[in-house]
Amino acid sequence: MSEKIDWAYTEIVKDHFLNPRNYIMGDEENFKADGEGIVGNPICGDQMLVKIKVKDGKISDIGWKTYGCASAIASTSALSELAKGRTLSDAEKISAEEICDFLGGLPKQKFHCSVLGHQALKKAIENYKSKITEKKS
Ligand code: FES
Repeated sequence: MSEKIDWAYTEIVKDHFLNPRNYIMGDEENFKADGEGIVGNPICGDQMLVKIKVKDGKISDIGWKTYGCASAIASTSALSELAKGRTLSDAEKISAEEICDFLGGLPKQKFHCSVLGHQALKKAIENYKSKITEKKS
């Protein structure tokens, strides 16, 4: 017998997959970002783009798009809700575990999908900081 597989998604995951928050697919040009980051998932080859607007050291707005799966969409929707309004240093600390907790859990075989969004967010913050450094020099 093979290992029992957990197929269940929580209602929160389903809601964020079906009604993703802060999703900018098709509207990227109108989202004037202060920083952006893109990452790929080496496990499955999916891609994630995260864009941020920054005001007074906090993430005032966030948008994202992906070629990822349902778990990646739900996870990044959750991430966008968790990140908005946080200081950059607090937003950098968002972890895959925090995203999974927010969603009420993910099947363990889909946990890797929850890392795409926050890795792209970290890159977007780095991109923003590098632009600030360039402006100062
Ligand atoms: S299978 Fe690729 S991000 Fe989920």
